[in-house]
Amino acid sequence: MRFTEEVVELIKKYIITNVSSNPNQITQQTCEHFGITKPTVLKYLKELDRDRIVEKTGSNRYPKYKLVQTKKRWEYKNKNLEEDIIWRNDISPDLKSLNANVRNICQYGFTEMVNNVIDHSESDNIIIWLIYDFLNVEFRIIDRGIGIFRKIKRALGLERSNQAILELAKGKFTSDPENHSGEGIFFTSRVFDTFVIISHRLNFVGSGNVDGVIWEGQRDIDGTGVLMRINKTSSAQLKDIFDEYADPNKDPSFHKTIIPVKLMEHEGEALLSRSQAKRLITRFDRFVEVVLDFEGVTQIGQAFADQIFRVFQNKHPGVHLTIRNANTDVKNMIKRVQSD
Ligand SMILES: Nc1ncnc2c1ncn2[C@@H]1O[C@H](COP(=O)(O)OP(=O)(O)O)[C@@H](O)[C@H]1O
Ligand SMILES: [Mg+2]
Repeated sequence: MRFTEEVVELIKKYIITNVSSNPNQITQQTCEHFGITKPTVLKYLKELDRDRIVEKTGSNRYPKYKLVQTKKRWEYKNKNLEEDIIWRNDISPDLKSLNANVRNICQYGFTEMVNNVIDHSESDNIIIWLIYDFLNVEFRIIDRGIGIFRKIKRALGLERSNQAILELAKGKFTSDPENHSGEGIFFTSRVFDTFVIISHRLNFVGSGNVDGVIWEGQRDIDGTGVLMRINKTSSAQLKDIFDEYADPNKDPSFHKTIIPVKLMEHEGEALLSRSQAKRLITRFDRFVEVVLDFEGVTQIGQAFADQIFRVFQNKHPGVHLTIRNANTDVKNMIKRVQSD
């Protein structure tokens, strides 16, 4: 039976998007999904193999399939490096065919993260991976320096490294205010589909334009590793994300931030005290608009709420605080302190 070109494209697209999650059963799965025969699916798999999109691994008897992946690695001494030159010479030639919006995002994220190694890591070298297949582009930027969370902990005199994640989530944090503005990680983590930082025992994973989860890993990894992945068909526009947090007609232009309050609750700590609140609100006064997202927070204490919604608010009337995803208990507590 012959299919129209559209149907063939549809079948191939199905194979491409599902092969990674089901490498052993993709033939069977495709047969069932479209109600077509095995020889037909094998024919398309062969064509995808010929076009270097999917490849067969495993034996003839137990075939497995996977997306053809290109993996490139570079290692440089961290001396006199310039991120834009590495981008131009090593990375950009492989990504010429990407859509302009995705290529822009890649260039932005790549140069920001490589610059971080150059300027902040105190590492002797840098390792760069570029990994791509038919669907995604991924970068891994790895150094063996001080480690990002320790660096922030040291700069702010924090008690624990995991409090550093909150500072990154707020944005505008930099350990070098004379030369930097603290925007790179905030925006890069939001434009990529997946954004992961691993450093010592801490892992931070963000996905899309939201702040992610943090957990403590088993292995103590020196330095900092950043992984960024974006789908080649992503419709994200760097400009849209900038505009969402930065009104070009306002000064300062990066004027808004969204804080996942849940990030404060590490190790199941309840949000009760004034000190916790003070930690949450440090540097809030640099923004015009602060959205506190209470997703996943079941309750807050009176002192915690009072410090933010009465004491801070009275002191900084120019900062517009709004809340999002707060449950009834949290809302009531905020109302209570505001009416005091
Ligand atoms: N690879 C790294 N090693 C150590 N610290 C880092 C690294 N990358 C980032 N940092 C820390 O995270 C902060 C925020 O980074 P970023 O958002 O890019 O802002 P900026 O570079 O403008 O300071 C840096 O100021 C630095 O303290
Ligand atoms: Mg930076």
